[in-house]
Amino acid sequence: MPVSPDQFRGALRRWASGVSIVTTRGGRGVQGITVASFCSLSLDPPLILVCINREARSHRLIADQRCFGVNILRQDQLQLSEIAAGREPAGGAFERLATRTASTGAPILTNVLAWLDCSLVEQHEGGDHTIFVGRVEAAGHGDGTPLVWCSSGYRRLREDGPQGAAALGRRRATARRPPRRAGKVKAARGKKKRPAARKRGRTR
Ligand SMILES: Cc1cc2nc3c(=O)[nH]c(=O)nc-3n(C[C@H](O)[C@H](O)[C@H](O)COP(=O)(O)O)c2cc1C
Repeated sequence: MPVSPDQFRGALRRWASGVSIVTTRGGRGVQGITVASFCSLSLDPPLILVCINREARSHRLIADQRCFGVNILRQDQLQLSEIAAGREPAGGAFERLATRTASTGAPILTNVLAWLDCSLVEQHEGGDHTIFVGRVEAAGHGDGTPLVWCSSGYRRLREDGPQGAAALGRRRATARRPPRRAGKVKAARGKKKRPAARKRGRTR
């Protein structure tokens, strides 16, 4: 039995992601679309992908311009996300946002958490969306906490540091390590060296 739209949405709603705005240029200036379906694809060469609805205005623009920007939003940039998703009454305000032009020609929003300047290298049909594969020509980042999207809403990351095996391992190793006592370590090194020097027949 095929999966129902409710089952499909119900499962996928439990997937947490960051929030980005994919920017490109159109007749009216800068065009942006809020995108959660962004992920890294390859390190060498540096590739990322975004999945864009074929009905979205940005779809044709990305295909035509052959370049786009990915702007990763900070926690305090929720309103930008809402504007680019067409969910804000002040919709038109997006074109007036501060941007700069990156080397591919794609517009990049100023003051985002991180940005990637991409040239379009491949596109694949995926049902009602298209997978756009971008080669990352330049990238940068600032400071802050990423905006998170999960269960049809924006979420805040708890600021209690990284978890997981690597972080726990690091913490255990630090806890086991005895406190450093510089004097003792130096004395032990000195004792070891002396007999070795005598063996080689050195007097000093
Ligand atoms: C958090 C969030 C994530 C979204 N992710 C995507 C996405 O990955 N791909 C997509 O095509 N639309 C996504 N959308 C919907 C588009 O942002 C929205 O439909 C937009 O208005 C389409 O652009 P248009 O109005 O210019 O056609 C997302 C919306 C939100 C709020």
